[in-house]
Amino acid sequence: MSNTASNRPELPPEIARRRTFAIISHPDAGKTTLTEKFLLYGGAIQMAGQVRAKGEARRTRSDFMKMEQDRGISVSASAMSFDFSGFRFNLVDTPGHSDFSEDTYRTLTAVDAAVMVIDGAKGVESQTQKLFEVCRLRDLPILTFCNKMDRESRDTFEIIDEIQENLAIDVTPASWPIGVGRDFIGCYDLLRDRLELMDRADRNKVAESVEINGLDDPKLAEHVPAELLEKFLEEVEMAKELLPQLDPQSVLEGHMTPIWFGSAINSFGVQELMHGIANFGPEPQPQSASPRAIAPEEKKVAGFVFKVQANMDPKHRDRVAFVRMASGHFKRGMKLTHVRSKKPMAISNPVLFLASDRELAEEAWAGDIIGIPNHGQLRIGDTLTEGEAIRVTGIPSFAPELLQGVRAGDPMKAKHLEKALMQFAEEGAAKVFKPSIGSGFIVGVVGALQFEVLASRIELEYGLPVRFEASQFTSARWVSGDKAAVEKFAEANKQHISHDHDGDIVYLTRLQWDIDRVARDYPDVKLTATKEMM
Ligand code: G4P
Repeated sequence: MSNTASNRPELPPEIARRRTFAIISHPDAGKTTLTEKFLLYGGAIQMAGQVRAKGEARRTRSDFMKMEQDRGISVSASAMSFDFSGFRFNLVDTPGHSDFSEDTYRTLTAVDAAVMVIDGAKGVESQTQKLFEVCRLRDLPILTFCNKMDRESRDTFEIIDEIQENLAIDVTPASWPIGVGRDFIGCYDLLRDRLELMDRADRNKVAESVEINGLDDPKLAEHVPAELLEKFLEEVEMAKELLPQLDPQSVLEGHMTPIWFGSAINSFGVQELMHGIANFGPEPQPQSASPRAIAPEEKKVAGFVFKVQANMDPKHRDRVAFVRMASGHFKRGMKLTHVRSKKPMAISNPVLFLASDRELAEEAWAGDIIGIPNHGQLRIGDTLTEGEAIRVTGIPSFAPELLQGVRAGDPMKAKHLEKALMQFAEEGAAKVFKPSIGSGFIVGVVGALQFEVLASRIELEYGLPVRFEASQFTSARWVSGDKAAVEKFAEANKQHISHDHDGDIVYLTRLQWDIDRVARDYPDVKLTATKEMM
């Protein structure tokens, strides 16, 4: 059995060496620290501290300010590219706060794998669990990094059991820790038969690595104190008996996760994890689309927008659309077709994100993430191709769970407010509904914090103080179905009907009973809680 997972042997080498992934974790588990070490080993930053400094600055502010700060950091934090051991890694950042789960979901449509970071003392925490469920919806391969092994941590079997039970995924150890807490000296790399010893004296020093000829190699005893060695050998023996063997195919299908143990802050276990990403990554995968899927090896270029960041600089209303390349070899200056509007777009200043800088992307291959500055033409879910009318699917918009009315403090500014709201709707930051009766707008979000963020952004970016107020509605459903039936339905239920920013009809209500009634009374009308973004 080979130690790597590949299901795309036909890929051209430039594409085959790409690994596009995200890190999922509970706040504080060590995502920022690990990202920084990735960048360090990827040669993208020269010294530790560059990313952390930002992480710290963020943490000292309230959640809301954190958002602002995040956005201010520059778009580079959203996608980072670096090279490691002949591979090109594209790390896509997932928003940390649970209120932004929709954004997270969409971000995860742009990656081929996820690294799940857990704290060795805390195990699987709530946010990890949530994000994991999102990965599961897409059967993403997941690689696990158990961090903070330099501190008191749980028993290794206990950690593995907890992951298996809480997340219903098979766990196979890729490394095994030797000693715990103060006695932790390092790990045995089970995949490559190496002993990795942690250097507590120098946090940035790459761990010492000793090649070992299997677990009965006497060399082990030269490096591992006798009392630790005995326990370690016992545990590994037990692990071999009790835990499933590494099955790369199962990893690829998202049924099994290999786990590495380490300490990000001590630069320990990070390179082994990076080799793991290279080996099990996997390569860029086909993208579901209509009327046909897009294979990364196709000669023609295709890509899709999974995230839009607007008003990076409040003085210029520019936006950056983050595009995941789905196929081909893109070159700067190419003219691509914007499938939704059928218009050509010359992509003359695409950017690539390298650690803390962004630079012009002269080229990009399937798997890469590029940023395309634009004035609002590019929306989440949009597909760019070399002419073919093909649309990427599976990028949903979810019905909001909280609805509020919104008014401009100054009634004369209603038009400005509309513009601001539309902008945020297109960015995916909120749903905006225009009721067919009355004035004003209803804004829908997934988490309450988003209202605060919106109010503050509208004031900051548009100079418009706004008021959110209770709405008589609590649920929104998109309306589809036979045209005549939909029209009849909309006419008879005017007080519930509104339109979203795309002009699609939305039914607003406060009662589940209403939704059930529509299903009964209007069999040709469909109410849905999700809509494909296109
Ligand atoms: P996050 O992005 O997932 O929120 O986590 P982050 O990397 O910011 O790390 C959270 C805290 O955990 C930080 O401590 C960080 O230093 C610490 N940490 C990360 N990796 C390890 C590790 O391997 N071992 C230990 N012992 N700690 C680790 P902090 O107190 O918030 O910041 P700082 O004062 O240490 O900079």
